[in-house]
This record gives sequence, C-alpha cells and structure tokens, in this order.
Amino acid sequence: MKIDEKIKELPLTKSNPKTLEILFGKTDITPMWVADMEFEIAKPIQDALKERITNSGFGYEYKPESFFLAQENWYNENYAIDLNRKHILYSPSITTTISILIENFTSENTGVITQPPVFMEFKDVIRNTKRRIIKNPLKLVNNQYQLDFKDLEEKAKLENNKILIICNPHNPVGRVWTKQELERVVNICKENDLLLISDEIHKDIVLFGNQFTSVLHFQEIYEKIVVCNSEAKSFNLCGIADSMAIIPNEDIRNAVFSTFKKYNLGRTNALTRVALETAYNEGHLWLENVIKTVEENVDSIENELKNSKIQLIKPEGTYQIWLDFREVYKDTKEMFNNITEKSDIGLNAGHWFGREGALFMRMNIATSKEKVVKSIQKIIKAVPNN
Ligand SMILES: Cc1ncc(COP(=O)(O)O)c(C=O)c1O
Repeated sequence: MKIDEKIKELPLTKSNPKTLEILFGKTDITPMWVADMEFEIAKPIQDALKERITNSGFGYEYKPESFFLAQENWYNENYAIDLNRKHILYSPSITTTISILIENFTSENTGVITQPPVFMEFKDVIRNTKRRIIKNPLKLVNNQYQLDFKDLEEKAKLENNKILIICNPHNPVGRVWTKQELERVVNICKENDLLLISDEIHKDIVLFGNQFTSVLHFQEIYEKIVVCNSEAKSFNLCGIADSMAIIPNEDIRNAVFSTFKKYNLGRTNALTRVALETAYNEGHLWLENVIKTVEENVDSIENELKNSKIQLIKPEGTYQIWLDFREVYKDTKEMFNNITEKSDIGLNAGHWFGREGALFMRMNIATSKEKVVKSIQKIIKAVPNN
C-alpha cells in the first residue's frame, strides 16, 4: 500500500500539538493512537472527488438511486445482507445516533450495558446523557477475549437496564464475534426486552479468514436492534464521513427519525456521497490490499515480539493491535510514562477504554511495514528487562 506522505501537512487530530501535549506531555512523538489510516485513499475515490469539485458547485443534494444501488450491492456481495433502504437513516456520526437512541428510549439513571475494554465514546455518551454505565466486561481466556454470558444474563435481567451496546468487530481487542456468540447475545436481549445497539463500523476490516456477521441476520428473531455503521474506517474517510443507522423496527425508526428532523441531521454532504458511492462501486481491490497489508503487519509484530514479555492479542478484525504489558508492569501510569518517554511512540493506554484495559495498550498499524516494525522495536527496547 502506498503511504500518503502529505498527511504530515494536515491538521490531523492525532498530531495536534495541543492534544499531544495534554495526552503525552510532549509534542515530539510518533502518533499511533487514533484509528485512521496512513495509506493513500483509493484512486477511484480521489478521482471522483476531484471531478466533483472541478465540474460543479455545491447546491443542496439528495442521495440518488445510484447511491442506494451501490450501497445495497456492497452489503449484498460482502455480507449477504439484503438492505431494506426504508430501514436506513443517515446521521452525522455513530455517536450522534447512539446518544439519540439513549435519550429516546431511556430516562435519567437508566442502565446502559457496555462490554469494556471498549471504544471510549460509549462511556462518554452514556455519561453525557446522564444514564448509568453498566459493565459486562470481556473475559480474557487463553489470550482470546470472550463474552461473559452469565454476567450479561444477570445484568440484562435487572429492571433498570434497558440497552446493550456491542462493538463488532470489537475496538480495541479485535474480536470478530461469531454467529453463535451473537445469537446468544440476541436471545438474551430478547428474553429481557433490551434494545440492542450494534456498532459495526469496523466490519470491513476482518483478518485471517475470520467471518463478520451483522446482527441484522437475527432481525427475524428479534426486531429491537439498531445497527450503527459507516464506511469511514474502511476507506479512510473519517474527515468527511457520515454514518447510517439501520433500524428494522418501525416505531424505533420513527422515533429516531423525528429527532433527526428536529435537529435537521439528515442532510446529504455532496463530497461524502460521491466518496461513498465510489467506494462501494470501485473500492473492493483497494480494501483487499489494506487487509493484506494489515495482516502482514500483524505477522511482523508477532515475529518481533517472539522473545519479548509483551504479548500480542492477535486481532481478528480492525487495524488496531492490543498489546498486553501485564508481565512487565504492575502500575499503569508507570507503563504509560515509561513507554511514552523511552519509545517516543504515542499509543492509547488501555485504561482509556475502561479500567479493564489497564496494563494493555492499543496501537494503530494501518501504516507501512517499516514504520510498524521500527515502532514495535522501539517499544520493546523501552520496556525494562525485556
Ligand atoms: C467502535 C467505534 N464506533 C464509532 C467510532 C466513531 O464513529 P463516529 O465518528 O461516526 O461517531 C469509532 C472511531 O474510532 C469506533 O472505533
């Protein structure tokens, strides 16, 4: 994959000096903490965007038939999902949709179940809407994270808990939940009348022959599900992305739609529309190459860590890796400061994803093999007695 050399000149969040100073205490650091890619975006998307900018102005747009067809084909060919376009609402971001769902279907202090260590903004959204975070932590068994069904059943039964948010593929631990695992989750939600929100933003980056299953496969069994999705991660479009909420149940959809209308959230962004339609129609090969490169990067990391005390939790999906430092450190602050100071690589501390992630770190590997290898070597060197 070709690396986008120009990103160094962009005002990207990951290299914002103010943010680096706050998070890492210095600005002279190689940022590998934000989940976006350093690969050049797909050539057909570049061309389509250039053409859209060069040839016309920016009047109000709607999504044309060609957009829906491209999207439907993508889901059909890749996931055997027949999208019902009447079920889809478009929203500026996944976290916007989750906030709206929480506010519409629960009241203050209602419990919302999450599965930490998990994408930190779930926690922020639950706190900001004044609901209670109920944790159903993942279990690490033989170096693989698993769902704790017994604990989930107990928490789902409690009257005050009304929503479960799952992340599939799971950020940061990289699990891609199997059909059997998801079926059990759906059944628990059904038995306890929980609204199931499935964040599937990382669905297109599935590695080493693993298979992604959307909870949409279970909509015949249970309709109280919402899939939050976006192609932002898959095609490195975070800076111009919007997102979709797939909502099979009419009442839930209508309620969400009326809030979208209230705040005028459903506007079509011309550049996003062009980028997405092109990605769906012409992005397959580029994405295959991304996946191959990420797999090779995982293999290289595994190789570098062979004789190290740092353990890799091998990802099944996403382009992040989850590194286990429990054999080296006892204190999470010491781990973070030591690695940041000595390696000059900016990683996410695991506890940012919940205290269940303490003594782990997340590293973005959607970049060149050279950079990944050099960075992991610096991290290995930074760790004492390694
Ligand atoms: C699991 C997950 N959901 C959502 C997002 C962000 O999506 P949005 O910007 O649409 O809220 C991310 C970004 O890292 C993510 O990892």
